[in-house]
Amino acid sequence: MCGIIGIASNDNVSSNIINSLKKLEYRGYDSAGIAINNNEKINQKKVKGKLDNLIYALQEDQFDGKVGIGHTRWATHGEPSDKNAHPHSSRSVSLVHNGIIENATELKKTKEVRDYHFESDTDSEVITALLTHHRREGLSHLESIKKTITILEGSYALAIIFDDNKDTIFGAKNGSPLVAGTNGVENSIGSDSIALSSVANRVCYLEDGDIAVLDNKNIEIYNIKGDKANREFVEIGITESDVSKGEYNHFMEKEIHEHPLAVGETFRQFIDYDTGIIKIPNLNLDFSKISKIHLIACGTAYYSCLVGKYYFEQYSRIPVDCDMASEFRYRDPVIDSNALCIFVSQSGETADTKAAVDYCRDRKIKTLSIVNVKNSSIARDSDYCLYTKAGAEIGVASTKAFTAQLSVLLSMAIHLATLIKSITIDDNKKICKEVMQATQLLEQAIERSYSLKDVAKSITKAKGVMYLGRGTSFPLALEGALKFKEISYIHAEGYPAGEMKHGPLALIEKNLPVVCIVPPGPLFHKTISNIQEVIARGGKILMITDDETLESNSENIWEIFRLPKCPKSIEAIIYSVPIHMLAYYTAVELGNDVDQPRNLAKSVTVE
Ligand code: M6R
Repeated sequence: MCGIIGIASNDNVSSNIINSLKKLEYRGYDSAGIAINNNEKINQKKVKGKLDNLIYALQEDQFDGKVGIGHTRWATHGEPSDKNAHPHSSRSVSLVHNGIIENATELKKTKEVRDYHFESDTDSEVITALLTHHRREGLSHLESIKKTITILEGSYALAIIFDDNKDTIFGAKNGSPLVAGTNGVENSIGSDSIALSSVANRVCYLEDGDIAVLDNKNIEIYNIKGDKANREFVEIGITESDVSKGEYNHFMEKEIHEHPLAVGETFRQFIDYDTGIIKIPNLNLDFSKISKIHLIACGTAYYSCLVGKYYFEQYSRIPVDCDMASEFRYRDPVIDSNALCIFVSQSGETADTKAAVDYCRDRKIKTLSIVNVKNSSIARDSDYCLYTKAGAEIGVASTKAFTAQLSVLLSMAIHLATLIKSITIDDNKKICKEVMQATQLLEQAIERSYSLKDVAKSITKAKGVMYLGRGTSFPLALEGALKFKEISYIHAEGYPAGEMKHGPLALIEKNLPVVCIVPPGPLFHKTISNIQEVIARGGKILMITDDETLESNSENIWEIFRLPKCPKSIEAIIYSVPIHMLAYYTAVELGNDVDQPRNLAKSVTVE
């Protein structure tokens, strides 16, 4: 949450900073700000609201200068407002911060800053106050940063400029992500490589405790001990088209249309085309010794874990526990020494998931992460890593990352099951063939989902929506409800269809939309019975199925959305499409900001 950027160039940097902020806006959009050093004078502008407000405000001013920093905010301490927007500046220093300073209240009372005139309600401003004090005491720029960060508790990624150093930007990292980048003529630091994609072709992922010092010619990095660190710079691997909407109206729309590509590319890593089986190559992990699997994640990634539990238990018969990362370490979980903890995250930066990885690492428990962003903190912190190949996901509502996560989890479950012989090689081959149909079926599902536009029109008037399913369709119901409420702001809940009569049925009233995910199979008739109970109480049923026998008039059903016939193994992947499309169309119909829904941010880097 919050995006930071700092650029040192031999030309004016303000337009490049704004450009990078546009790419960072998905990390927070409560306020935005910029500070530029122009011949040893720092000029800053910061305003409440989206980046467009800042761009508008900047039209009145000339913002020249070759070194500058910028920020997009997701409010933690202090409401979204001009005064709480970053940068936070004194006469001598200006900084942008991502993270939370947990001891800010105590630090504000210390003698060093007691007389400092705080202008904001943020935790971040205390860093400005401390740096100002240390500079006044005569410490060098670097020493003042070192001294300041030793007393900060919590997480931070910082970009700092000083009035009397017109060429240099300083960065510091602990807990929050920070990347340094270069293109030969300008150097930069920012929250992620997406932010740096227009000003860098090579990037380096900083480690906790690092301090970066950069001007337009050099980047120096010092490690936690204060020694010069030789960190590796790698190709950025992001193109401009990865981070633009292209022909689509929203990133979410583009990303839904990229389900086939994301799933196809992800599975491709695990298909052995010579033998026609699914296997996980190059992973030096003895799966055969695993006694139990713990799947841990947040939000949509957690729902992919819930589907993953079905995959692992059904195919490999290994017990699986699923935990929300925010709960995991606080419940003091019992974890067997032969257990494997798997962490799922699109961004690879989610604070709760990262903390759960660290919790396991500290206890010497084997960790494997499934992440989308290469070299992200969670990828680097875990013993083993598998990548989803979804490409950059910018929309706050996660879509293609979800189906890509399911693809990795399914591949792992099949690989493991084959190794421990709970399925045969022939079973593996059969599932592999089914997996190879996924791309085509997803394309057909997208094509058919355009018809949900009309359904979405009438759903906009609902005061709530329920999602029901059994088996893997239950976590899909949860995912559907999350996606729906996240961008439509209409209350939505997902339930196992069989649980309705234990309470939630009381919510059913005339014309309440109920989205029922009902694939054919052993649970089909049981789910239909539950649906009848809803119909009897006036619920308005939208049925999502690939069963060809159901007829809408015979079942009192409002609408049947029919998917192409799909194999059981990849059912949850294909069924994700209408779930995501329905949420998308409803939000568009309501005129909501689909890609940047209120109160949220893409990368949740605070607990
Ligand atoms: O980057 P992660 O996958 O770790 O993010 C986890 C959740 O924050 C994320 O899935 C969130 O729930 C989405 N906004 C849901 O659409």
